[in-house]
Amino acid sequence: MPGRLEDKVAIITAGAGYIGTAITQSFCREGAKVVIADFDPCKWEEFRTKVQVPDLNKVSFIKTDANDDSQIREMVKQVMATHGRIDILVAMVGGSKDALIHKMTDEQWDQVINLNLRSMFLSCRAVVPQMMEQKYGKIVLMSSRSYLGNIGQVNYSAAKAGVLGFTNSLSREMARYQVNVNAVVPGFVDNPRLQAMPEKFRQMRIELNPFQTAAEPRDVAEVILFLSSDESRQVTGQSLRVACW
Ligand SMILES: NC(=O)c1ccc[n+]([C@@H]2O[C@H](COP(=O)([O-])OP(=O)(O)OC[C@H]3O[C@@H](n4cnc5c(N)ncnc54)[C@H](O)[C@@H]3O)[C@@H](O)[C@H]2O)c1
Repeated sequence: MPGRLEDKVAIITAGAGYIGTAITQSFCREGAKVVIADFDPCKWEEFRTKVQVPDLNKVSFIKTDANDDSQIREMVKQVMATHGRIDILVAMVGGSKDALIHKMTDEQWDQVINLNLRSMFLSCRAVVPQMMEQKYGKIVLMSSRSYLGNIGQVNYSAAKAGVLGFTNSLSREMARYQVNVNAVVPGFVDNPRLQAMPEKFRQMRIELNPFQTAAEPRDVAEVILFLSSDESRQVTGQSLRVACW
């Protein structure tokens, strides 16, 4: 039986990170060709040697700084030259640099806004002309429960709230081209880096999960798979919460 994404071409920015790896695995299981656009080749090395996928030949890596417009455009050009189309973009690049507002530097503000918002804008802008021409495309963007507010995260909360506004507008621009644009809003997703945080803070995050547990990357990946497949073809402009209320 063909997979749910059989032969679809997917770009995943930050696709070699913790959640990105789980998405790549889910997409591969369903038959997609995945291009990981990440700026860290070591992560790709780790992926190639440690991660199980049905066919590693269907996964490729293009070293890309998602905040550099020329690198994003070059990556999209390479994907087109190899595959001839782009069906799916999962824009995952993001991260935080926490500080209370009176201690937050301009740099911390700019870095987090650029990492989460500008990178998403640049990757969407680069792929939409192709999706418009194809009259087909799925875009999934990465917000976070933190958009509801956390102490020390005015930059990250503002950026992740921005992702939702961006999703609303882009979905309205793209619907006439049969391109779906949705966002996921994960709560706490476990990974080895977060396992190292003090137990008290870990517990506080777990308590925000309706099931009182830390979600695994695959919990987010399977929701993104749904939003990237034709099963959700009538779903656009939505934000889906995972592992949080
Ligand atoms: N882990 C969580 O609990 C959680 C919860 C909600 C939302 N998120 C969001 O999920 C996304 C991924 O999180 P993760 O936990 O998998 O992070 P991660 O740190 O495991 O992965 C981030 C990846 O992004 C890559 N990267 C960083 N800057 C880049 C750039 N400029 N260009 C290209 N690649 C770059 C890194 O090399 C890394 O592979 C982020 O947007 C994050 O805000 C995470």
